[in-house]
Amino acid sequence: MSKTSIAVLGGLLLALTTQVQAAAVDDLQAQLRAQGAGPFSAAAGDTLWHSKSIHAGEARSCASCHGADLTKGGRHVTTGKSIEPMAPSVNPQRLSDVAKMQKWLKRNCHWTFGRQCTAQEQGDILAYLRTL
Ligand code: HEC
Repeated sequence: MSKTSIAVLGGLLLALTTQVQAAAVDDLQAQLRAQGAGPFSAAAGDTLWHSKSIHAGEARSCASCHGADLTKGGRHVTTGKSIEPMAPSVNPQRLSDVAKMQKWLKRNCHWTFGRQCTAQEQGDILAYLRTL
């Protein structure tokens, strides 16, 4: 295969991955809108992601496990297991599966804030993460 066709194929693959992510986030945000939430704000998601909340006697935030730089990997604060980077720009698997996003938003909001995130908050977080 020529270098040009490899480059073209690479570009196509990247475009396809980006589309899968965009479709999955659009899909989940549409479900959240159907619950009355929206419009979603990346800035509000950024603020929420970095906000510290005292839960179970310690200051917790989404960065506790995912780390300060989302283009780098994180480390699970209780199990010590490494976590792949959250930014979809460096980790194409991120935000590509609605069920996975729902499952972890549920678990992680509960662990971090001691409550579920509202539909609005979930949509805002996704709006923020998709820009990374
Ligand atoms: C106690 C550690 C921990 C904290 C704190 C945490 N997460 Fe996570 N998160 C994980 C783990 C573990 C996974 C699943 C493994 C993986 O996908 O790397 C995950 C996965 C996710 C995913 C799935 C992304 C995808 O599509 O692959 C989302 C979304 C997410 N977290 C959002 C959040 C948000 C929002 C917060 C703050 C409210 C948060 N996380 C705080 C550990 C944590």
